[in-house]
Amino acid sequence: MKPSMMIMDHDVAKDILTADSKYFPSRFTYNHANADPMTATLFNLRGDHWKDLRKEVTQAFTTAKLKKAFHRIHFETKSLVCGTQAKLNNYGPELDIRELVLKHMISTLSIFGLGVNCNIYEDGNVYDKIMYYFEDNRYPPWIRSIIASFPDFFKKFSIVVTPSGMKEFYLGLVKNALKTRNPKGDVDFIMQVFLKMFSGTMTNQEIASLYASFLDAIVTTSGSFICEALYEMSLHPDMQEQLRKEIHQQTEELTLETLKKYEYLDNVVSETLRLHHSDAQISRLCEKDYYIPKWDLTIEEGVLIIIPNFGFQMDPDNFPNPDTFDPDRFAGGALDNINPITFMPFGMGNRNCIAGDFGRTLFKITVLEMVKNFEFTVGKKTQVPIEYQPLELRMPMNKLYLNVRSLK
Ligand code: HEM
Repeated sequence: MKPSMMIMDHDVAKDILTADSKYFPSRFTYNHANADPMTATLFNLRGDHWKDLRKEVTQAFTTAKLKKAFHRIHFETKSLVCGTQAKLNNYGPELDIRELVLKHMISTLSIFGLGVNCNIYEDGNVYDKIMYYFEDNRYPPWIRSIIASFPDFFKKFSIVVTPSGMKEFYLGLVKNALKTRNPKGDVDFIMQVFLKMFSGTMTNQEIASLYASFLDAIVTTSGSFICEALYEMSLHPDMQEQLRKEIHQQTEELTLETLKKYEYLDNVVSETLRLHHSDAQISRLCEKDYYIPKWDLTIEEGVLIIIPNFGFQMDPDNFPNPDTFDPDRFAGGALDNINPITFMPFGMGNRNCIAGDFGRTLFKITVLEMVKNFEFTVGKKTQVPIEYQPLELRMPMNKLYLNVRSLK
């Protein structure tokens, strides 16, 4: 077991993540590019391999690309609205929102990542397979937790942690996309970067590993947060009405620029990110002895650093009545006055979320379109509070049922 240190001091935590990040360049997670290529992801990689990859992949998530993709992202939310309406007509009014939203995430990433439309609302097979690989892990939770505690030890034995069949499944998706995508497509930015990366020397397997990790990221973060925002709207009908009012008041065409005018939507999104959090902690591995003058203390090489971002977000000194869902705590530009270390849903420093703007924009447009077109209320099957899987904080234990009423 690694010696670990939890950093509660805001200034020291900020220095570790930003100014002094060269002492703490990596996470302490399992990756083995040869034995288990699906683990060679941007999230897991260390050293120069990570640095080179990060530099290249960043190009897929620039503001200019997001601006160019905006209308397509918006257009895709209309498929979610149609998919929800179709489900409502056939099975309503109590629907599993999680399935609909996660399908939307998979479909969106299929377009931006691979350049293909996966027809997910008509063909349930792709969704079932992807969820199967997310949920059915190769080892039981207690073994996974041992591997997570000793990743470098298990690396010596070249163990495989990826569920069997998953590597072949994603490789198939990538090969198929390369055959069928429109080479002149203008929004599959992630695939375009993959194909140019390292002067076009990336293997299909490397593309498949990165694509699968992005899919994991979009489902477990954006997907979960959208569900949680709609769940909060069901618990708080007054807030839902206030949000719908703001949506109807805006008359300009929706663009990346005009989206900024939806202030209450932005506050609902921030408060969902605060209360429901993405990762409970941000971790870094100390790779060089690091002296902290404030404490006259040296953190030795090999110590695992834990920064409790969810703890900061739930600290009443930072956010009074932290258990209460209150979008107004972000009203009037309050975010500008909040110490960034106490609210960092996308992490901080050079290993922060590579797709933060994309993720937040997708989150906002999806909630906007869903609240505009449907009313959400708590139903008989709604689980309050949401129960999460042990060891998998971002995966709700069960489906997320809400009562849905069409407003058209
Ligand atoms: C609301 C949406 C999202 C949230 C809240 C979120 C949050 C996070 C957080 C907290 C981290 C760790 C940051 C750190 O250690 O400092 C992270 C890393 C990462 N995220 Fe996101 N994320 C979101 C969406 C996405 C999406 C849509 C993608 C890709 C399509 C993505 C890809 C990644 C990757 C690749 C990393 C690892 C970066 C590295 O180590 O270089 N995320 N994200």
